[in-house]
Amino acid sequence: MISEFESSAVHLKKVDHETQRRSASCIWCSKVCGFILLLVFITASYMLSCKRKTLLFDPYLMEEDLSEDALRDVVQSISAKVKFRARRVPAVSELIILEEHMFSVAPKRFLPDVKNPCWFQELRGDVSVDPYGSNLFGRSFRPIQHIFEQLSVSFRQLVTRHEGKLQRLRCLPYFYIIGQPKCGTTDLYERLRLHPDVRLTQPKEPHWWSRKRLGVFQYGGRPHTRFPLDHYLDLFDPVTLQIQQSLLGNSSSNIITGEASASTMWDNNAWLYLHGNSRGAEPPALVQDFIHALQPDARFIAILRDPVERLYSDYLYFGTSDKSALDFHQKVCESLWMFEDCLRDAGLRACVYNNTLNNAMSVRLQVGLYVVFLLDWLSVFSRDQLLVLRLEDHALNPELSMSRIFHFLRLGALSDQKQRQISKRPASNTRRASDRDLGPMRADTRELLSLFYSPFNQRLAQVLQDESFTWDARSEHA
Ligand SMILES: *[C@@H]1O[C@H](CO)[C@@H](O)[C@H](O)[C@H]1NC(C)=O
Ligand SMILES: *[C@@H]1O[C@H](CO)[C@@H](O)[C@H](O)[C@H]1NC(C)=O
Repeated sequence: MISEFESSAVHLKKVDHETQRRSASCIWCSKVCGFILLLVFITASYMLSCKRKTLLFDPYLMEEDLSEDALRDVVQSISAKVKFRARRVPAVSELIILEEHMFSVAPKRFLPDVKNPCWFQELRGDVSVDPYGSNLFGRSFRPIQHIFEQLSVSFRQLVTRHEGKLQRLRCLPYFYIIGQPKCGTTDLYERLRLHPDVRLTQPKEPHWWSRKRLGVFQYGGRPHTRFPLDHYLDLFDPVTLQIQQSLLGNSSSNIITGEASASTMWDNNAWLYLHGNSRGAEPPALVQDFIHALQPDARFIAILRDPVERLYSDYLYFGTSDKSALDFHQKVCESLWMFEDCLRDAGLRACVYNNTLNNAMSVRLQVGLYVVFLLDWLSVFSRDQLLVLRLEDHALNPELSMSRIFHFLRLGALSDQKQRQISKRPASNTRRASDRDLGPMRADTRELLSLFYSPFNQRLAQVLQDESFTWDARSEHA
């Protein structure tokens, strides 16, 4: 898209030319005229609303598509098509076909005396070879490689002999912080890791279940080399070593581990590359199906916020150049039209998980449709395995939300000092100063988005039996 700035320069050149021809004798006058025209044009282009700008430079929408009435119609048409249908949950036999390797590595059961899910895996091949040398996480990320270098020194401690065979301890996360992006997952991660019985992965977000497992490196990207389950398990070896040491010392271990990939809850975009064929099709299996097949007792924490605010924060954080409230408004309008277009002949779930659509929308509207994802998680996990928090509550009272998390993870009581340290910690990953200067979104954008998210929030509040998840100002102060 031509930027506003470039186009005004082109336009001005033309204007200047004509002015000069018409009054060649009066250079001074032409300069003044040019300057005034420049001022008029700049002022005008600032005052132009989203509709004009789009009419001039955007091939997707026409001016009449962006009138307030038209946009309202679009949102209402979306609301009319919102239907929460139960999904078809795939059988484990279907999952095994999709992830043969994963199931060959996964354990049948976990050690009974260890709180964290761990098991002994038979060690095959040459034990003297660096066990982390081929790890794709290590090869792609230098800080992880550094951790692996240190681990390979103590790797021998992980190897034990049982009935003549060599084996090593393996562990999966006891819990996952699954989402959503720009809702405070980093803050939870930073506070949780201060608990003496909790170990979290470095880095915070391995994105294995939703992306690397399928060979995808970033949001919406095409699949390349798939990272095997073993490479993911290696990330938990620092804590596995600690659990093993307490096992050897005959003491029970209360240590638990977890990770905080903010894509786990919602990002199933890779399926379309792997299985997509007909329009309106839905993913044959979701991330949670595989986690459930491996660890049916896992626990999950989701932190959410007003999806309208989330979207703006997402835009500010991930957006590149030319960020402004006007630009945001335009992108929201465009994306709403695309979403409505998809719903015309495909179901809600097909659109929410459609990578082609998601990549085409210039703001990630779908990430805020929390209830669609939540219901799909509840199709395999029970309600008490999911803790759902609100960033708004967490920001007001981090002590309360952290104690809810500790309780949920069945963690023991903390010393007063430790508790203070965890709750008084300054908030992590808040809005950048340069983005704060951009100010809030426009009132009309907020109104449109509130209308768009409203039926989803209503349903979310119903499922969670908590009115505060409507993010409706009236229930907020109730
Ligand atoms: C742990 O217990 C086993 C048998 O219960 C015993 O043989 C072993 O010496 C104990 N190890 C330690 C380090 O106490
Ligand atoms: C995904 O959306 C695109 C664009 O709206 C559409 O062309 C495609 O058929 C959709 N795919 C599925 C599987 O629904």
